[in-house]
Amino acid sequence: MNPTADHECDVCIVPCFDREAVADDIAAIQALKAKHKAIVLAHNYQRPEIFHGVADIVGDSLALAREAEKVDADVIVMAGVHFMAETAKLMNPGKTVLIPDLEAGCSLAESITAADVAALRARYPGRPVVAYVNTSAEVKAAADICCTSGNARQVVESLGVPEVIMLPDQYLAANVAAETDVKIIPWAGACEVHELFTPAEIVKLRLNFPGVVVLAHPECPPDVVAEADFSGSTARMVEYVSQHKPARVALVTECSMSANIAEASPETEFVRACSFCPHMQRITLKGIRRALETMSHEVMIPDELFAPARRAVERMLAVK
Ligand code: 13P
Ligand code: SF4
Repeated sequence: MNPTADHECDVCIVPCFDREAVADDIAAIQALKAKHKAIVLAHNYQRPEIFHGVADIVGDSLALAREAEKVDADVIVMAGVHFMAETAKLMNPGKTVLIPDLEAGCSLAESITAADVAALRARYPGRPVVAYVNTSAEVKAAADICCTSGNARQVVESLGVPEVIMLPDQYLAANVAAETDVKIIPWAGACEVHELFTPAEIVKLRLNFPGVVVLAHPECPPDVVAEADFSGSTARMVEYVSQHKPARVALVTECSMSANIAEASPETEFVRACSFCPHMQRITLKGIRRALETMSHEVMIPDELFAPARRAVERMLAVK
């Protein structure tokens, strides 16, 4: 079967990368990293040739935010989307942070502005605002605290209040609301990748692939999460597969995940019930090479947003 971006396929085959075809770019990137004292942070949704070929640190949004704080480098290349590069810059003001493609956005980050946050605060006075890291620096600056899919419930409960505003992902908000007594006021944003999955697809997967263990990302609608065996951030999915070693698994999330982690779990058959994120796919080896050759595109945070946006991320990182 050909690689496909159609989420309705039963098995999407993500091709393993041809190491010979990319050897030149990988060697050039490694040399450029040494020259500029640069490192590559890569999200779990990155192409396999980036994930396995040039990344120094890989992980979910939470891990990347934590690692960005610790890195010993002059230059950070974010192999991920724009909000991740902004978060890396917030945690590393003295370092040069590059994103290979400025168009690598996110439907969630684009669904809300700081003016929307101000309107929500006016409508629901006194409720703290929890902003998913999938937001712009201006929205983080307007929030009280950030969260990721890996710590959303803990962050919401850490505030010690009966009701919070949680934005912008309506599905993450609904999935967290199902796990906590804290009342959640959502925003109407959605991930353009995860909102397309349906419970019927999971039912079909189980029929076509008997015994399959289904893991769904919490950006999926609650009825999809309800059909799954487990729901968690991309890092929690990786952890689940390495700990439980299921014979057959379907990761209901971005396609590249399965390709990236399959190598480390040869005993598991990955049924790829997935969809590509067009924003994550904009990052390529050639783009990373060009970013390091030209030192672009440098990510900057406006001065007036820096301190409040960083505070929201730091408050999240302090939640255990
Ligand atoms: P996590 O890796 O934090 O689960 O996030 C998924 C995502 O959609 C990032 O864009
Ligand atoms: Fe944004 Fe969804 Fe793509 Fe993640 S997968 S970057 S949430 S559009």
